[in-house]
Formats: sequence, structure tokens, C-alpha cells
Amino acid sequence: MPDRKTAVITGASSGIGSIYADRLAKRGYDLVLVARRLDRLEGLADKIKKAYGVNVEVLQADLEKDSDVAKVEHLLSTNPAVRVLVNNAGLARLKPLEQAPLQDSLAQIALNITALTRLTHAVLPAFRKLNEGVIINIASVLSIHAWSASAVYSGTKGFVMNFTRGLQDEFANTGVKVQLVNPASTATEIWDNSGIPLSALNQESVMTTENMVDASLAGFDMGETITWPSVADATLWDKYDAARAALFAATQTGKPAPRYNLA
Ligand SMILES: NC(=O)c1ccc[n+]([C@@H]2O[C@H](COP(=O)([O-])OP(=O)(O)OC[C@H]3O[C@@H](n4cnc5c(N)ncnc54)[C@H](OP(=O)(O)O)[C@@H]3O)[C@@H](O)[C@H]2O)c1
Repeated sequence: MPDRKTAVITGASSGIGSIYADRLAKRGYDLVLVARRLDRLEGLADKIKKAYGVNVEVLQADLEKDSDVAKVEHLLSTNPAVRVLVNNAGLARLKPLEQAPLQDSLAQIALNITALTRLTHAVLPAFRKLNEGVIINIASVLSIHAWSASAVYSGTKGFVMNFTRGLQDEFANTGVKVQLVNPASTATEIWDNSGIPLSALNQESVMTTENMVDASLAGFDMGETITWPSVADATLWDKYDAARAALFAATQTGKPAPRYNLA
């Protein structure tokens, strides 16, 4: 059993993933940084090694590609030091569906859903065996909200929400922790790549990347399973979830609702 513990972070070459890398190294984890831009990964790895003296490896992978996802799956299923997986890599293409190339939709599904699901599958057997491990899934406030430009992106984040909640149920009362993080607008490159420039947002609604990650890790330390970094009134989520549970319970009647007049 190795003494050192490793955190694997997807999408570590910029934004939220790069700050998770910094913060997890500060907490003493060795790192494997995953993304496509090798120069960025190597630059960050050097900086983190110097700052914290931990081991940092980089793994160049395009997580929209089957063979590259397989490389990360292999790492997760064979490296016995892995204790944390941050499923952070994500892509937003914010356009009405009728104006969007099909490829944009498929790319979001491949990265935000398929890769995240595959990597989670790959890491879970070891976590189950050890009865230890942390998965942090980065969804979005758009997991509960959609508008005309976000049908696919919101759909992918809705998947991450339900996928994570199901896993939380599966691993309840074990040593395996699964956290869902729902950031609101955060000042990263995702916006300028999405079709909606960061500068077009109401700047008061935009959080710094550092604050987003620090709040999420504070939420994790407090035992939160679902973290809304920007939401001041935590009872809003409790009420939303209670309404959801009540609606679900109300579906279990086995009969058409009286308003459909089917007798
Ligand atoms: N910023 C926000 O307002 C916001 C709000 C809610 C949720 N989020 C979520 O936060 C997560 C991180 O995004 P961010 O805001 O930090 O954006 P970002 O700065 O654009 O970072 C996205 C990361 O994903 C990686 N990535 C993109 N396509 C990839 C691919 N095909 N294969 C491997 N890696 C890929 C990028 O690296 P390479 O380009 O080097 O591959 C980059 O490291 C995403 O899941 C996003 O949906 C962001």
C-alpha cells in the first residue's frame, strides 16, 4: 500500500481544474493532470512541484476520443495510489439547437457525459475495495435550469446531477465520498469558447475561480454532498429537493390523474 495519495484532475490545463490542482497539492496529494494542452499542463506541473514538493504527472488526453479516455481509464484502474478523481473537464457550446452544428452537441455529450461516466466506472472498483476515495463531479447551476441556448449543455449537466445523486445513494454509508458541485458563472475560458463572452455577463454574477474552488472544498470538508458555491441561503436547495421528492412520491399511484377524466 503506497503512503502517498494521488488526485487525478481532468481539465486541469485551465480554469477550475487548475485551481483544484493547486489546492489538492497544497493538501499533500500527488497529482495527475489531464487535458489536451500539454504545454499548459507542464507549466502548471512545474509550478505546483516547486510550490508544494509533491509529485505531478501530466497525461495528455482528448476526452472526446475513445482511445484517449481509455488511457485515463487505465491509469485510474491500475494506479493503486489514486484516491481522488475530479471530473472537471467540460465544454459549453451555447447556441439554440437549430443554429448549432450537430458536432457541437455530440462533443458536449462525449466530454461532459460519456468521459465522466467512463472515468467514474474505471475508478470505482478500487475505491470500493479500499472503502476509501473521493469523486468530485463538476456540474453547474444549469443542471437545474435551461434556456434556449443551453439545451444540450444543461442536459449534460442534468445528467451529471442525477448520475452523481445515484452514486451517492449507491455508496451511502461507505468510505467513498461523492460530491456534486454546481458552480454559477465563474471567470474562466469556458465563456469565450462557448459563444457568449465573459465580458457580456453581469460581472456581479461572476465568481473568481479561486473562490469557486475554495468554497467547494470548504463544502466538501463540511460534509456537503451537493455544493452550491454561490448560494447564500442553503435552505433553498433543501426546499427544492423536498419539492422534488414530494413530486416523485406523488407519481407512484399506478393510475392516471383524475384531471385526465379517464374514469
Ligand atoms: N466557468 C463557469 O462559469 C462554469 C460554471 C458551471 C460549471 N462549469 C464547469 O466547470 C468545469 C471546468 O470548466 P472551466 O470553467 O474551468 O472552463 P475552462 O477553463 O475552459 O476549462 C475546461 C477544461 O476542460 C479541458 N477540456 C476541454 N475539452 C477537453 C477534451 N476534449 N479533452 C480533455 N480535456 C478537455 C480543457 O483543457 P484542454 O483545452 O487543454 O483540453 C480545460 O482544462 C466544466 O465542467 C464546466 O462545465 C463552469
